[in-house]
Amino acid sequence: MIVDIINKKRNGQELSYHELDVFFNGYLDGKVKDYQMSSLLMAICIQGMSDEEIFSLTKIFIDSGDVLDLSFLPGVTVDKHSTGGIGDKTTLVIAPIVASLGIPVLKMSGRGLGYTGGTIDKLESIPGFRIDLSDEEVMHQVEDIGIVITGQTASLAPMDKKIYALRDVTGTVSSIPLIASSIMSKKIAAGADKILIDIKVGNGALLQTREEAEKLSELVIKIGKIYQKEVRTIVSDMNIPLGYCIGNSLEVLEAIKILQGNERDNNLTKLCIDLASEMVCMSKGVTKQDAIDMILDSIQSGIAYQKFLELVQAQHGNIDLLSTSKKVKIIKASQSGVIQSISAIELGKLSVSLGAGRTTMEDTIDYGVGLELLKQVGDSVQKGQEILKIYYRKLPSLPDFNHIFLIK
Ligand code: URA
Repeated sequence: MIVDIINKKRNGQELSYHELDVFFNGYLDGKVKDYQMSSLLMAICIQGMSDEEIFSLTKIFIDSGDVLDLSFLPGVTVDKHSTGGIGDKTTLVIAPIVASLGIPVLKMSGRGLGYTGGTIDKLESIPGFRIDLSDEEVMHQVEDIGIVITGQTASLAPMDKKIYALRDVTGTVSSIPLIASSIMSKKIAAGADKILIDIKVGNGALLQTREEAEKLSELVIKIGKIYQKEVRTIVSDMNIPLGYCIGNSLEVLEAIKILQGNERDNNLTKLCIDLASEMVCMSKGVTKQDAIDMILDSIQSGIAYQKFLELVQAQHGNIDLLSTSKKVKIIKASQSGVIQSISAIELGKLSVSLGAGRTTMEDTIDYGVGLELLKQVGDSVQKGQEILKIYYRKLPSLPDFNHIFLIK
């Protein structure tokens, strides 16, 4: 009985492969209802899962769909995944850079989860951009231009896709076992030889502590071993937003600025170089410094941005039509001093209340709204100086910005 499985997990007992299989496949078939799955997910969040249960769940997710065979692509393919952050547009920057260096990039990305944005939502802010490619279209495009970024195709880990959407709205996002099986099932099904995972920690991330990040790191590496995939992880800070912009079209514009070589050194550009160089090292076996030099060259010579334009064109996007809301409100510093911190989570919540993210599965996103930081942590400001620009359509009630920008 379905309810016995829920009770067993609620009582902290280990579920067998068979029990997990019956429950999760029952959900995919519609026999297990949303409320029953929500209840089991919450029990998993609270009671956790053994490694054995996590390996079983990952396998059940993978087996719910196809596994791509990328052996026709030249060289060593490397996939990258982020656990999600506020202002995290790294995929938009690093995928074209890596592809411009001759490493094929086939990236299946997700939508926003919790207060964190998703690459697919960001790309959809480019009018016309198709994110629903079939497996055949994905294969043709990666062979043709060496890069594709699409939503999870219907045939890849469909069970994860259904459960991911439910977790987003049932408070069951921040469970390490669920995150590990969700990420690894998609990455293994997507077929790359090697996998790089950016695990974010901090108030704007799914995970709040370094210990949790290390636990997730251990797990994804162990799962990778089972499937003979080298997995590397980078643990990165998510207490302050990444870069200057939060919100879909704003983030695409910021990514373009970096690809055009017009963005200064900041936490986002540094992370992009760190991740992209790791991918280049994993694929080409070069040293970190050589990889960094190749990346900087690809930006300076314009080939990285060119690759981004090829991607947009191949997926029918019209970059000239990318737009942000014309209604803006400026927030000013309430005192003089140096900005000590900027709360990622509070700005993430504000961007969702503006309409840049979802609070229910049915919500639609307003691509043109969001936030632009005019100052960064470490900058000096004078009282009355502009620190934040809010792009809105309908202004929600605003938070106390003295709690978001700590100025001393
Ligand atoms: N990214 C995923 O793909 N799944 C999660 O559960 C969390 C982040």
